[in-house]
Amino acid sequence: MNRSTTGIMILVMLFFSVMSCEKETVDNQDMEDDVLNLPEAPYDYETVILPEHLQTNVLLGPGQNAAVENDNTPSDNPITNEGATLGRVLFYDTKLSANGTISCASCHQQENGFSDSDVLSLGFEGGLTGRHSMSLVNANWYGRGRFFWDERAETLEDQVLMPFQDPVEMGMTLEGVVSTVQSQSYYPALFDDAFGTTEINADLIAKALAQFVRSMVSVNSKYDEGRTGVSIPTDDFPNFSESENNGKRLFFRPVSLGGGGCVGCHSTEAFINPDNGPTNNGLDAESTDDLGVFEAINNPAFLGTFKVPSLKSVALTAPYMHDGRFATLEEVVEHYNSGVQNHPNLGDALQDENGQAIQLNLTEQEKTDLVNFLRTLTDDELTNDVKFSDPFK
Ligand code: HEC
Ligand code: HEC
Repeated sequence: MNRSTTGIMILVMLFFSVMSCEKETVDNQDMEDDVLNLPEAPYDYETVILPEHLQTNVLLGPGQNAAVENDNTPSDNPITNEGATLGRVLFYDTKLSANGTISCASCHQQENGFSDSDVLSLGFEGGLTGRHSMSLVNANWYGRGRFFWDERAETLEDQVLMPFQDPVEMGMTLEGVVSTVQSQSYYPALFDDAFGTTEINADLIAKALAQFVRSMVSVNSKYDEGRTGVSIPTDDFPNFSESENNGKRLFFRPVSLGGGGCVGCHSTEAFINPDNGPTNNGLDAESTDDLGVFEAINNPAFLGTFKVPSLKSVALTAPYMHDGRFATLEEVVEHYNSGVQNHPNLGDALQDENGQAIQLNLTEQEKTDLVNFLRTLTDDELTNDVKFSDPFK
């Protein structure tokens, strides 16, 4: 074969490979990990059928209200199917880290309730994050609208741009992120669908990512299913085992009446603490290395306090707490049973009438019941729904 025939052969091969790529959904440049697999019509992120118990509140006590009252969606960024689709692509795009290895999803994995099974997460160059990755489930229903364990981000739109610029996590500048997004062939059309413009900027990147994260609300779990059959959450659920119903009773009942008082802080039926805000749950007697919200808001009342994450799908988000110190839910329950420390900012619900850290003195069976109840909060639909999965696969 002479040189020119070889040249023609290569040209022909190139032509066919380009043609076959075009038959894929969106064209691509780097061939290998760039093939975007999006549906013809976008998935539905806008319609969420909310069960009654997330729309009306029947719980008594401070901070108890209906999940819908705590929606932190700003009026200028409602979820649209096209906006959340763009957010999904950005969320899974490893090109948006300094060496092309890490995406948001590296540390917020769908199968782990959008958290990370590692105690600390690996950044783009192998460095470790300072805290354990947070679950993103029900972020939408955090009424205070602040994000991170120390609540340093004032809004979700602010938060979603921070990991890109974090020197350990993704190591980019904001300008670098914008220009990398601009230079991928698949983005202009996605921005056009989402926002009616092919002009890409940081504000629109933030809006799309926030829409995608806000769409991760949990409405399907054994808890939600059982709850539809009763009028108040403390009634026994028909689909629960005796152990799960006992655990539920312990979760909702105040400590003074022999319960665990958990709903005092993991409040509303979204199991988040939307109104009362960050608090201390007695992990340590003093705060030394991680000062929590005090690091963001210089007020001693916040020393050693942390955001209370939603417990929906908590069985999937191990390890637990801001530093990932507990490997299992059993260890978490044992902490509340016998390990709560007298921290100066210990939350009221964990103090007895003398202001001392409570001891629950649960039996082995009661501890198991509480864990079994926490497992009923797992939302398998959120974990398996293709609309939250990696579109580059
Ligand atoms: C290298 C791992 C890593 C990467 C990459 C990463 N995160 Fe995170 N994420 C974390 C950790 C760790 C925290 C908790 C940090 C803290 O509170 O100080 C967190 C917290 C969050 C929170 C706060 C949740 C809450 O309830 O307050 C959101 C939202 C979030 N990340 C979204 C994202 C998005 C969007 C991206 C991509 C742009 C991203 N993360 C990339 C590790 C990561
Ligand atoms: C005074 C408020 C308060 C009470 C009462 C309370 N918690 Fe918590 N809970 C918190 C805070 C704050 C955190 C996060 C603490 C941290 O990481 O520093 C937390 C974290 C958790 C976590 C880990 C979540 C994660 O994603 O890592 C679980 C599970 C949990 N609590 C279960 C319970 C159970 C079960 C009870 C009842 C026995 C209970 N909590 C009572 C405030 C409370």
